[in-house]
Amino acid sequence: MLNFLLTEGIRDPPQQWSKGQLRVCLQQEGETGETMAVLNIFSLEQMLHVVGVLSVLWLSLKTVWALAHGVRIFLLSEKWRGVDLASYGPWAVVTGATAGIGKAYSHELARRGLNVVLISRSLEKLKQVAAEIEEQHGRSTRVIQADFTGGSEIYELIGAALQGLEIGILVNNVGQSVQTPMYFLDGVYKGDQYIYDLVHCNMLSYVKMTQIVLPQMVARKKGIVIYMSSAAALRPLPLALLYSASKVFDDFFAQGLDAEYRSKGIIVQSITPHFVESNMTRQINRHYKLSAASFARQALNTVGLSRRTTGSLSHSIQCNVLFKRIPEWIFVSPFAIPFILYLWKKCVKERK
Ligand SMILES: NC(=O)c1ccc[n+]([C@@H]2O[C@H](COP(=O)([O-])OP(=O)(O)OC[C@H]3O[C@@H](n4cnc5c(N)ncnc54)[C@H](OP(=O)(O)O)[C@@H]3O)[C@@H](O)[C@H]2O)c1
Repeated sequence: MLNFLLTEGIRDPPQQWSKGQLRVCLQQEGETGETMAVLNIFSLEQMLHVVGVLSVLWLSLKTVWALAHGVRIFLLSEKWRGVDLASYGPWAVVTGATAGIGKAYSHELARRGLNVVLISRSLEKLKQVAAEIEEQHGRSTRVIQADFTGGSEIYELIGAALQGLEIGILVNNVGQSVQTPMYFLDGVYKGDQYIYDLVHCNMLSYVKMTQIVLPQMVARKKGIVIYMSSAAALRPLPLALLYSASKVFDDFFAQGLDAEYRSKGIIVQSITPHFVESNMTRQINRHYKLSAASFARQALNTVGLSRRTTGSLSHSIQCNVLFKRIPEWIFVSPFAIPFILYLWKKCVKERK
């Protein structure tokens, strides 16, 4: 057994001992010889110094990595794509394809060599967009008229209409929102239907369309499924509560599905955009919006490079430099309502 004895020197350390050094005398029982062991112990000041240096290093590495990743997925991807979209199958399916983001995705996918199945409510608009795509990009189109506020009956029709098509890409895009900030009960009292429509359109359709299209992708061991979530999913958004919560659902569903099917050759991507020009954002000042065509081009460049992205360089800067810097507690605090009304007024102010 060893006795650990502090030498006398520790109380009165000689000059040559450095700060933070503990000298221990190791003496074996029954032995007369002594061995001096020197243990280096950091002072609190030295430990704080090390923690500080490591933190700065970690933050610098994170920032450099984030910048490099941003350059790769938003700038270099213009020329150096993550994947060749057309190699995943000849057909793409886009829900909510007659306006805004869905229409822009449909055009961009056709431009990149895919035939497109367009799904929306209005047959007239569907035929118009289909004609534009065929004329401008020389690709084939099919249209399916369906109202996603409906229940299970519409999915039998959609499933039948998609039968036999080799679908490489599914874009779950259809969505509805409130046009102005609104308390939950104010929305509900406009009609109970409001709840069912939003839930069916923004959530049920994403799950059911995945159920229809995914099996043939898994069988071929390749496919891309895109979920149009929103920046509204990144923070709880009072006064657009149901919309914000529905977009969290889309985002989580996409992330979980990605974990389940990545090893089976499926790319799943969740997109969380800020304002994009569309019917949904017609009240928003145009200075805060990205054109739908530019957004779709940039967002499609990120496929295969990022599983969860805002979709564009400007939205990524907006998100990481501004939006995510606002602490989450503000959005659920007593300041949340005045704060959101203030932001809303800033965004629509100049139009009034
Ligand atoms: N715009 C933005 O700033 C923004 C930001 C973040 C996320 N998003 C998300 O992006 C997606 C598209 O938004 P958007 O701004 O492009 O919307 P939008 O301009 O209002 O277009 C919506 C599209 O969906 C179709 N649609 C609407 N309700 C439908 C229904 N019940 N059944 C079938 N089709 C329906 C519309 O066509 P018909 O009227 O012909 O049916 C239209 O093609 C949404 O999921 C939204 O949450 C948008």
